[in-house]
Amino acid sequence: MKNKGSYPSEVYLNGEWMPPQEATVSVFDRGFMFGDGIYEVTPFYRGKPFHLQEHLERLRYCLAQIKIPFDITILEPLMFEALSRAGLTEKDAAVYIQISRGTAPRTHYFPDDIKPTFLMYAFPVQLENFQQKRWKVLVSEDFRWQRCDIKSTALLANTMSNEEAITGGYDENLLVREGCFTEGSHSTAFFVVDGMIYTRPEGPLILSGITRKVVLEICRDLGISYEEVAFPVVRVSEVDEIFLTGTTTQITTVGSLHYEGEEIFRSQKGEITARLQEEFERRTRK
Ligand SMILES: Cc1ncc(COP(=O)(O)O)c(C=O)c1O
Repeated sequence: MKNKGSYPSEVYLNGEWMPPQEATVSVFDRGFMFGDGIYEVTPFYRGKPFHLQEHLERLRYCLAQIKIPFDITILEPLMFEALSRAGLTEKDAAVYIQISRGTAPRTHYFPDDIKPTFLMYAFPVQLENFQQKRWKVLVSEDFRWQRCDIKSTALLANTMSNEEAITGGYDENLLVREGCFTEGSHSTAFFVVDGMIYTRPEGPLILSGITRKVVLEICRDLGISYEEVAFPVVRVSEVDEIFLTGTTTQITTVGSLHYEGEEIFRSQKGEITARLQEEFERRTRK
């Protein structure tokens, strides 16, 4: 059954806190018309931000890439306020931030001098027991655009893919472009072959995951070898372990991988994933 999700009790919209039913934007908001905006999700483990500066830096990068002028220095105190207003300062939670270009008569080019629309709220997240999960994952064609490094709110390709996965009884997708895995619909992918980890290099075809950075840092610290290279689908028979990472996904084991109704991978070992999970958990709970 699909998880229905829930609304937060309060959101911050353009400078004011309000209940979500009062938070409205114009039909001419470019976020509504074009998906002309970006977003960010930052985790807070029992009230403590995890790699906050990296999340803010990615937000700054994305704003710069799509040329939305926005002063990100206001964000940090507001994020803590969002947690506190939602009663989440002692709980596991995340803060959602969305900035669209703002409201203006509809034109394809960016209008001059408009005020961005800024939305923020905190929400609770289950960040425990990720080590026990075994996701059943659907291999899908990656038909997204070629700037997946921009964390754009225009997520239709991701949501269409994930809808197919969830209605088919899967937990996530693994996307494939030109014979190689790119990433999940909302996660980064890692493959383990003979003790070596492979993950796609950063670039326009994947989002630069913050959890990805943390995992690679852990690999360096624990002396686990990795290579940043596109992993071909034809090599899936050699794979010992696959795991997916993300702010809310953390480090989740792929239990099985399915392509056109056939199981093409079943998790055998899990030693490397387990070592990374253990160290990841330690760092998040410090
Ligand atoms: C397409 C995509 N890739 C990767 C990730 C993982 O990124 P992060 O670890 O920063 O959450 C996400 C997160 O939502 C995502 O949407």
